[in-house]
Amino acid sequence: MGRQLSWGRRYAMVEPHHFRVDYAINPYMDVHDQPDPTRARGQWLALRAAIESAGGSVEVLGQRPDAPDMVYAMNLGLAVQPAGSSRSLPEHVVLSHMRYAERRMETETAAAWFADLGFATSYVGLDGIGAHFEAGDVFAFGDALVAGFGPRSEELALKHLATTLGVRVRGLRITHPGMYHLDLAFCPLDETRAMVCPAALDETSAAAALELVPEPLVLSEEEALTFCANSIVLGRTVLRPACPDRVRAQLEAWGFQIVIVDVSEFHKGGGSIRCLTNPLDVRVGRDLPSVPGGEVLLP
Ligand code: ARG
Repeated sequence: MGRQLSWGRRYAMVEPHHFRVDYAINPYMDVHDQPDPTRARGQWLALRAAIESAGGSVEVLGQRPDAPDMVYAMNLGLAVQPAGSSRSLPEHVVLSHMRYAERRMETETAAAWFADLGFATSYVGLDGIGAHFEAGDVFAFGDALVAGFGPRSEELALKHLATTLGVRVRGLRITHPGMYHLDLAFCPLDETRAMVCPAALDETSAAAALELVPEPLVLSEEEALTFCANSIVLGRTVLRPACPDRVRAQLEAWGFQIVIVDVSEFHKGGGSIRCLTNPLDVRVGRDLPSVPGGEVLLP
């Protein structure tokens, strides 16, 4: 059994006061199928409670009234503690530069919130200028940040991440329109295991993804489209939306405890559990090696 992930205990979440589907920027969104605000709020509170019961903590930001997708907190930015970080070195967040203008106003609010928490902030692009980057595309896994690019983040953003954070970045090219962020197709489970949906990626990247993970739980396209990979892991507890029996059986055989959290109202905007949460406790030098100057490896 691989060692448990050291990160994934401290999260940011955005309270869903203004969650709506005002536009369609992914195949799940339909302005004629609006979320029910009361149900959505109940589901969000249950998710927060489930994280706390599993031993995690949650820090909450308010939602801007003009930013209906801001509830998907994962896309606000990539929080990473620099190597050798102690209380004296500030934590760092690389803010997202959203692909679609409809979400770009979220960045200003996120930047202020992270700065208040004491994070140093940086950008790979801003206000439509420079590389697009959405943090839902990135995970610490193995010896690198594994980063999806294509539908949302651009290849150039990977270079900025590597040099800004002083880490290795391994890019994977996403081609499936329904898995537009890597977190719809990939989920680290422990240090040697991850859920992977090769159907999200082009052929070379699919092979690279499978090579990256010593013990992959391979998801079919059909399984991944139930938001199955969009889960979070706290130690040996996996918080996930309802999901196929085959996947549950494999996770249980590996010793994971599964907690199902129904966030179906949020599926209407095209996101699930991982999209609603953003881990704040990934650390260079512990969760991925420090690579001074940075390095990008593309398949
Ligand atoms: N409606 C949002 C968008 O299209 C959903 C974001 C899902 N988030 C994620 N981390 N996959 O941007």
